[in-house]
Amino acid sequence: MNDDIKSIIDFYRSSPLEKLTEKAEEVSYENHRGRVLLRGLLEFSNFCIRDCLYCGLRRSNLNINRYRLSDDLIIETIRKGYQAGLLTFVLQSGEDRYYSTDVMIRLIEKIKNATGGEAALTLSCGIRKKDDYKSFKKAGADRYLLRFETSEPALHAYLRSGFTLESRLAAIYDLKDTGYEVGSGYMVGLPDETEETRIKNALFCRELELDMVGIGPFIPHPDTPLKDKALRSLELTIRAVALVRLLLPKAHIPATTAAGSIDSEGREKLLSAGANVLMPNITPLPYRKDYTLYPGKICLGEDGIKCIGCIELRARSRGKSILKDRGDSLYRAKEA
Ligand code: 5AD
Ligand code: SF4
Repeated sequence: MNDDIKSIIDFYRSSPLEKLTEKAEEVSYENHRGRVLLRGLLEFSNFCIRDCLYCGLRRSNLNINRYRLSDDLIIETIRKGYQAGLLTFVLQSGEDRYYSTDVMIRLIEKIKNATGGEAALTLSCGIRKKDDYKSFKKAGADRYLLRFETSEPALHAYLRSGFTLESRLAAIYDLKDTGYEVGSGYMVGLPDETEETRIKNALFCRELELDMVGIGPFIPHPDTPLKDKALRSLELTIRAVALVRLLLPKAHIPATTAAGSIDSEGREKLLSAGANVLMPNITPLPYRKDYTLYPGKICLGEDGIKCIGCIELRARSRGKSILKDRGDSLYRAKEA
């Protein structure tokens, strides 16, 4: 560990919440100027072949209406979002085998065309073959999100029913190799996680040189094997965001919906602790309630476009303004 990193970790360990978030805000302001980027989140399929113990989309959960959005509905939604000013779209799903390489390529091309190639497209649809990552990039995808969930190998394998942390990391390196802007991240407050795990999680983000880092609280889902586990305080997530901001000053860090779901001001609190991205949910309303990663998910009743307005107000309440921009990686920009 170099001296800079060591002093950040020492500062994290020894600082009460307020002191830690104050410093993170300072670093955030130096790098992001109090501006918040918007990413429109479109949850296009909730089918999943995996069985992660924590997740409501796991294949063993039969208490869920599964859906896939038609291409037409996806394109119409993207167009509406673009007209409302969004310049980045995140296409998220479970690991759904219906989306073969060809089906995905066609969909990506259509989405890129819908905005004349102007908006950035981020994929968040799980592990695929490296060749798929290449084909999707060629078709127009710009970024890819794949959280590592926890950096504790044994906990990772247990929670993801046998899938190893090693294979997850290999996929993240495949994505970096392919030239994507890469986002990853983790949940905070997983069962058996310790403070040392949380520190290791943050250090992992730095080691992976991530462009984007998503961090949210683990929220026990009643239809999963972890239903009786504890929901930990949001403070742990706020501290995690602040620490990652100190370790990765230029990274794009969303104030996650999960944080807003356990505390009505959860997202605002993360914005004041170093986060610089908000993700309005633009999934068409009838489907939104079925994308139940965790219970209590917010924004189930608001039309996608209204979500954007609500989110802008939330940012302003913390003295932030919305930056209408694709929000490309600040690390790549420096290299170019
Ligand atoms: N609580 C909080 N976040 C969850 N996710 C999945 N299940 C839960 C849960 N019960 C997160 C995972 C996944 C992302 C899409 O949603 O981190 O990567
Ligand atoms: Fe599927 Fe992702 Fe949920 Fe795991 S976390 S069950 S891979 S949607």
